Amino acid sequence: MSKQALITGITGQDGAYLSRLLLNKGYEVYGLLARRGSDTLWRLRELGIEGEVKLIDGDLTDLSSLIRALEVSKAQEVYNLGAQSFVGTSWQQPVLTAQVDGVGAINVLEAVRIVNPKARFYQASTSEMFGLIQAEKQDETTPFYPRSPYGVAKLMAHWATVNYRESHGLHASSGILFNHESPLRGIEFVTRKVTHAVASIKLGRQKELRLGNIDAKRDWGFAGDYVEAMWLMLQQEQADDYVVATGKTTTVRDMCEIAFAHVGLTLQEHVVIDPNFFRPAEVDVLLGNPAKAEAKLGWAPKTSLVQLITMMVDADMRRLKV
Ligand code: NAP
Ligand code: GDD
Repeated sequence: MSKQALITGITGQDGAYLSRLLLNKGYEVYGLLARRGSDTLWRLRELGIEGEVKLIDGDLTDLSSLIRALEVSKAQEVYNLGAQSFVGTSWQQPVLTAQVDGVGAINVLEAVRIVNPKARFYQASTSEMFGLIQAEKQDETTPFYPRSPYGVAKLMAHWATVNYRESHGLHASSGILFNHESPLRGIEFVTRKVTHAVASIKLGRQKELRLGNIDAKRDWGFAGDYVEAMWLMLQQEQADDYVVATGKTTTVRDMCEIAFAHVGLTLQEHVVIDPNFFRPAEVDVLLGNPAKAEAKLGWAPKTSLVQLITMMVDADMRRLKV
């Protein structure tokens, strides 16, 4: 008997990789489709699974659509990955971000509580909640200090997940995931912006790359590895919260150098610092400690930053050559 899973944010980076993982494990995969763009299915298509997932119209801000999605899918596992996930935009759209990322998560928790309180729930929490870091290496015990409307909204969703576990007994887990990237990353995020520009410069279509704070440091991993941790969390007898990270941090500058060097170019020749890309409040450094996930879930990252960035540059070179 196959299991049913429902994924909000199925058209996003993580939704696509998680769908592939669950399909490979024999799940029937349902996804909430918000129909927000003209070609939202491109990631599922790139992974060759567009026709294998079942899409249900709905929106995180519409509780009735979530109740319907739970009823139609009969999901035993619900992964809440849907979000306005770009930190920069959250200063321009703070209310929408709060509604989708904060209240939206509560809507999914309510739908689970109402339709099938035995279903297991995963919340896509984030290292952005650590913001102005309160410990050199962040783990599940580190106090939060969000620095963006996005971080604030995600913190609401995070505590709601803990609260539904403690007050309603839901099997609700939160994955505090540090930055994870892939060839399916949205082009607004810095790694993909860089790899796309590097490929474009190499092919003679672009001359410069404009960036903001390249001294910021992030703990970057591969999305394909991180979705395995999500699934493992829902297979545990007890719901819990886990940091998922590599335990290494790198500056945006050094990440860029990896990308340029891969095609025989240098950052100095092509990168221009543009104040427009600086943020009103920055998260200067993130560095996660994934010891709990390693010990309890048996999870460990498999892909190095060099492997990740070169994989992304190669994918962008292939796309641009077509
Ligand atoms: P993503 O590529 O931006 O995908 C976001 C998804 O949410 C898309 O499918 C989008 O649909 C959907 N969505 C947006 N607004 C919605 C709404 N109102 N109702 C229903 N769906 C909506 O993000 P990602 O990188 O895959 O990240 C997945 C989740 O993990 C997000 O919650 C993100 O905040 C969180 N997270 C990500 C990282 C990371 O480094 N990637 C780290 C920690 C946490 P459209 O395609 O229609 O826009
Ligand atoms: N996007 C972007 N564009 N970022 C830039 C640029 C630029 O031109 N120049 C410098 N940066 C810096 C940002 O200021 C930030 O310090 C860092 O690069 C990473 O930015 P993003 O790639 O946009 O990611 P993020 O860390 O803000 O947020 C991502 O990771 C979070 C987990 O920590 C997103 O995926 C969030 O959804 C996720 O929760």
